Amino acid sequence: MDRHHGDLISFEGIEGCGKSTQIKLAAEFLEKQGFQVVVTREPGATPMGREIRRLLLSPDFSPEAITELFLYLADRQEHVQKVIKPQLERGCLVLVDRYVDSTWVYQGYARNGDLNLITRLNKLVTGGLLPRRTFLLDCPPELGLQRARSRNLTDGSQGNEDRFEQLEIAFHQRVRDGFMQLAKEYPERFVILDGSREIQTIHLQISQALQELYVV
Ligand code: ADP
Ligand code: TYD
Repeated sequence: MDRHHGDLISFEGIEGCGKSTQIKLAAEFLEKQGFQVVVTREPGATPMGREIRRLLLSPDFSPEAITELFLYLADRQEHVQKVIKPQLERGCLVLVDRYVDSTWVYQGYARNGDLNLITRLNKLVTGGLLPRRTFLLDCPPELGLQRARSRNLTDGSQGNEDRFEQLEIAFHQRVRDGFMQLAKEYPERFVILDGSREIQTIHLQISQALQELYVV
């Protein structure tokens, strides 16, 4: 296998499902196999994106639905042009924590947004760049939110919930359902994982899927 062939892999799921935990483990696994790996996330991976993230997650604002949609898309356009594409061109494996599917699910499916419009706008800001694989960590919202809360107690955010974590369980359940619907629509791209299992069990499944793609 060519270890200098760029590829994009995304990780999706509700808050607290374990995306950042699994991305870190996957990156370590791939680096050990000799790949150059870049870990990134949305929103907030570029200097402008960090400002956009601050606006989006601040409990001080409640943007209109379209305002919010355009902020996520603006962040993505900066991210694709300034980080993802250049790193793919350098031959890196780019692992991204949230990408186009989060917009489809959060701004579209869960909020009754215009799904066709979101699909077209996602295409516009990514130039049609889709991940080779998307790992969906599926878990009940109660579990994800409980994990996100205990993480916030230990990571310096002093237990403050951001604007999204304050939303009711029913919303997070819609988000969960939306991701499942997408995964069923694109079975060749998505790998569905049970996010309520042990960290190492999930990591083993992800590393096996990555091994099949890149190492064999
Ligand atoms: P996300 O990035 O999806 O919001 P994180 O990876 O930050 O989720 O995980 C949220 C919290 O739950 C962290 O404190 C993490 O250590 C913990 N965690 C992640 N995956 C698991 C798991 N499979 N079992 C138990 N705890 C987990
Ligand atoms: P993030 O820190 O990625 O969430 P977590 O680590 O808790 O999973 O916060 C990003 C928030 O933004 C999260 O609630 C999901 C939301 N989001 C959207 O609504 N649309 C999008 O397109 C993206 C990328 C994120």
